[in-house]
Amino acid sequence: MTGEPGSSRLGGVINQHLRIFGGIRVLTSFAAALTGRRTSILDGLYHEYSFFGARNKQAEGNFVLNQKAKSPIITAYIALAIAKAKEVKEDVSFVELFCADAYYAMVASRLGAARSVGIDNNRDGYADADKVNKIARFLDIANFTYQDADINTLGTKDVYDIVANVGGLYHVSNPEAVLDKSYAMAEQFLIIQTVVSLANEAPDYFEAPAPGWDWGCRYSRQSFDALIKAKGYDVVDRHFNILEGNARPEDRGSLYYLIQKPSATSTA
Ligand SMILES: C[S@@+](CC[C@H](N)C(=O)[O-])C[C@H]1O[C@@H](n2cnc3c(N)ncnc32)[C@H](O)[C@@H]1O
Repeated sequence: MTGEPGSSRLGGVINQHLRIFGGIRVLTSFAAALTGRRTSILDGLYHEYSFFGARNKQAEGNFVLNQKAKSPIITAYIALAIAKAKEVKEDVSFVELFCADAYYAMVASRLGAARSVGIDNNRDGYADADKVNKIARFLDIANFTYQDADINTLGTKDVYDIVANVGGLYHVSNPEAVLDKSYAMAEQFLIIQTVVSLANEAPDYFEAPAPGWDWGCRYSRQSFDALIKAKGYDVVDRHFNILEGNARPEDRGSLYYLIQKPSATSTA
């Protein structure tokens, strides 16, 4: 007996079992990949991942219904923006501001962005850099990077063909400044989504902090739309729907914009 693994009869038996279990593990993960298995790395996240062919147990609460409202229109805007941006150049870059688990940055990568970035300061604790990078590796997302940063500290030196500022403006007390910065960071398209109050219809309504919160802000549907109009942006498409997961009227409205910059020479 040399002490080397597998040199004894017992070692041989153990190795044989390990090989069998190893084989089963490989077969199991192969089958899981084919069938859209449920995976613990994605469990408890802000989003559900059927877009990527994976099945996960999404975080409980309002996340399920709100993703159902938000993701069809945001995903459509991302797909259109990437396709149109590619008329100008092949290597399209994308950034998701306020990205949480960076779901939309990863969607953009799958939809053809050559480089995709997610930025968040993990203020709400949905996913830290390590977790987001693990998700990207698990989903085999190429050319993705995560930046742990407060959006307020970003300059406008780093520009991207497409900027998605989704689920973020109602989190800050200075939304107009963050909107201006997002527009400046975009070379071709800017995608905006924010929560608006249904409890107020005034065209000049703005509250910071948001009603009942000690942070964030709120516009009405009318006042946020007036802000976008006042900016003179070239709006390709606008959309409104209800965030069915949120109970308070102050939190139920959701506005979406796909905005084209003059430098995007194609007609969307
Ligand atoms: C509602 S989630 C949006 C997630 C995703 N973009 C979506 O729309 O599904 C808002 C995220 O903004 C982040 N956040 C809030 N204030 C921030 C700030 N000043 N800088 C960076 N991230 C911030 C929170 O940590 C949270 O992950």
